[in-house]
Amino acid sequence: MSPVMQIRFAGEEQAMTTRSLRRRVGVGTVALLTALAVLATPGPAVATEAEADYQPTFAKDVMPILQLKCQECHQPNSIAPMSLLTYPEVRPWARAIKDRVVSLEMPPWHIDRTVGIQKFKNDRSLSQEQIDTIVQWVDGGAPLGDTADMPPPAEFPDPTAWRLSDRFGEPDLIVASDPYTVAADGQDKWWRSTAETGLTDARWVRAIEMKPSFPGGRKVVHHAIARLQQDEDGVTGLANGFDVDDDIGPGTFMEWAVGKEGEIFPENAGKLMLPGAEINWDIHYHAVGEEVADDVVELGVYFYDTEYVPKYRTILHSMRAHQGGIDIAPGEIGMSQGFTRLKGPARLENFQPHMHMRGKAMSMEAILPDGTRRMLSSVGNFRWNWHINYIYDEEVAPLLPGGTMIVVTAWHDNSTANRENPDPRQWVGNGSRTVDEMAHAWVDVTYLDQDEFDQMVEAREAAQKATDNND
Ligand code: HEC
Repeated sequence: MSPVMQIRFAGEEQAMTTRSLRRRVGVGTVALLTALAVLATPGPAVATEAEADYQPTFAKDVMPILQLKCQECHQPNSIAPMSLLTYPEVRPWARAIKDRVVSLEMPPWHIDRTVGIQKFKNDRSLSQEQIDTIVQWVDGGAPLGDTADMPPPAEFPDPTAWRLSDRFGEPDLIVASDPYTVAADGQDKWWRSTAETGLTDARWVRAIEMKPSFPGGRKVVHHAIARLQQDEDGVTGLANGFDVDDDIGPGTFMEWAVGKEGEIFPENAGKLMLPGAEINWDIHYHAVGEEVADDVVELGVYFYDTEYVPKYRTILHSMRAHQGGIDIAPGEIGMSQGFTRLKGPARLENFQPHMHMRGKAMSMEAILPDGTRRMLSSVGNFRWNWHINYIYDEEVAPLLPGGTMIVVTAWHDNSTANRENPDPRQWVGNGSRTVDEMAHAWVDVTYLDQDEFDQMVEAREAAQKATDNND
């Protein structure tokens, strides 16, 4: 991890602690504590004692966290098994909530916090401070507190509306999956269908969004992937002079899971759709005890004006974490590794590990042409039923010179210790059934021209120096 990020993070945490302290004990007390802290050394000990005595309550401290980080999924008509909208609903789950937030399983966000890049556009995780608050609340008997402290109910976006329509108007193109009926009970299903887009001209995409039906679809669609399928033959010069060859292709278009807004590309970048493009759907359905008939997921696409050609084409790569096969012995933990060479200077926009039931961990490193090795991201406790896309914040998205080797490493746990393992006695290889395995990362790569790349690297270095000096 670069020192810039560490410093920025330490700063943020400090700011958060002061803010929360103010919320908890009132502004006047904070001023007093601060004054005391200046007089007495070491200062921060005073604050810590005040915090240790404080008993968080549901109304004042826990409800705001649930509203922000849990309720979008944990409400009637959404994907989670129970609603967490009110105190009577939450109270019976207090212990389970503590367990799941301490183990970093909930909210689903499984990136390793100790290595690699730590700033993401779509980070939905709890801060350490929020985890501590929940733990103290549960350990203190999960009290309701004073209902006068209870914030008003949270408002959620209208699940029937396109979220980006406020900004861009209604989508220019809407593509629906084939209807599928999800039975009341049964195992999870992966529904695959192909839809034509009807496009007759090439168009540049500025934003995309997906929407399950409401209310049925919101309960049963665990996540959905739309892959763009089109004929790239003869398409050159559109990825900055890099021919789009077979091992790149147009790739996945978008992946959706509850809480996801949609994707907006930077002004000088976009995805390219070609005439005759098709969308291949891959929808993970999950039974919820009632039938949902003829469910349909929709993809909304917003185009740039026809005259506008963005400078950069963003292309999704599937970066393999193996070389020609997966081979996991019964009862063993298997490790495999794959290499993808960057064809030119590039910015990586995200990291989305893809494995199945035996998936345990995946990391992505860069080996630069000068031999420098950098850990970019690692997911230490992968959960196969959560396909999470970790999207880097623009200011930290890795800028890598041409010729850099991206190394993706995958670990699969085929032992009895893996509670998701359907059968530890089986040998496991590649395949698309969930009981077979896969090992790759979906990574959006934006190839840059050398001048702009150099400028971006310089700007980053300048920003890092400024932070170092401020410290
Ligand atoms: C993106 C959707 C989503 C978000 C956000 C989310 N959950 Fe969940 N939660 C689920 C789903 C789906 C399950 C059931 C499947 C699973 O465990 O992965 C679940 C399961 C749970 C369970 C276990 C329930 C059981 O049956 O034992 C607990 C406890 C829980 N969530 C608490 C939370 C808390 C607390 C938060 C916020 C801090 C949160 N969740 C945020 C979707 C979500």
